Amino acid sequence: MIQDVHNIQKMGYVDIDIDPTLDLFVEIQKLKKEKNAIILAHYYQDADIQDIADYIGDSLGLARQAQATNADMIVFAGVHFMAETAKILNPTKKVVLPDLNAGCSLSDSCPPFLFEKFIQQHPEHIVISYINCSAGIKALSDIICTSSNAQAIVESLSKEQKIIFAPDRNLGSYINKHTGRNMVLWNGACMVHEIFSLEKITKLKVRHPEAKVIAHPECEEAVLAIADFIGSTSQMLAFTQKDKCSEFIVATETGIIHQMIKNSPGKNFIPAPPTNACACNNCPHMKLNTLEKLYLCMKYELPELFMDETLRLAAKKPIDRMLTMSKELGIQ
Ligand code: 13P
Ligand code: SF4
Repeated sequence: MIQDVHNIQKMGYVDIDIDPTLDLFVEIQKLKKEKNAIILAHYYQDADIQDIADYIGDSLGLARQAQATNADMIVFAGVHFMAETAKILNPTKKVVLPDLNAGCSLSDSCPPFLFEKFIQQHPEHIVISYINCSAGIKALSDIICTSSNAQAIVESLSKEQKIIFAPDRNLGSYINKHTGRNMVLWNGACMVHEIFSLEKITKLKVRHPEAKVIAHPECEEAVLAIADFIGSTSQMLAFTQKDKCSEFIVATETGIIHQMIKNSPGKNFIPAPPTNACACNNCPHMKLNTLEKLYLCMKYELPELFMDETLRLAAKKPIDRMLTMSKELGIQ
């Protein structure tokens, strides 16, 4: 190999020219069999990656698949905190990801050393953290949640229970509003979900009066206020399949639209526009992964995710608690 292992781990991806005559879909299928690998992909991945994945899902679904798999190698097409969750649940399996640099602005908004101080300032509070955070934050938390189960988990706790919710202030205030709680919120946000323009969505609604606005709870309150449906990526997808409406304005990362079109070919899906002319409704972190990097990471089994065992065990506790609670609460 041109790059050595250390350099690949440092750079975050394998950078080798690929024979352009190769059919990467065929090659990836071969590698899957050869290595007993499973490809888990989030809905925000490129269409090509979604099409070759063994499982596509939201954060809860991906964590559950990671827990249940018999594969020897988990190829995680998503961002770092998701692959980290897979490793936390599967310490003996090899977890690789196409680009180790695929981070998350929301996760980055909550550094563990500051969060630890924040917790100390709020004694008697339990800590519920959204899965979009680092293992360091998970290790400081009592329960992890995702956008699929956050409200149900909060509602299952006694009303007297004082709660810190981190790192997403938008999801936190959405839950506060719908449950009548007063959770203390960490001031973090996702760069993609904060960029939607209320003004432009309103204008779109004028041109498409029948269209329903569907939004992810990471969006700002003003956008959520005009949404006809609010839910996690998989809940949004299910809503577009079930609902009679044939047109939807989609306020989340655009990758999900690939599945929406596949599942409801006759319906029209319009990405909610961002405040400026950039393609900011594409997550730059998710989009670091490409089909080429996916192929190379499977071929060379690099870059690999490693984790300190003490940190892993501490981070696993609140994830296990979430998985148990979700089962008990009947969350799909
Ligand atoms: P879900 O797919 O769990 O709704 O999460 C969305 C997201 O922002 C992932 O980064
Ligand atoms: Fe993080 Fe937002 Fe990208 Fe999801 S969409 S990975 S929350 S930056």
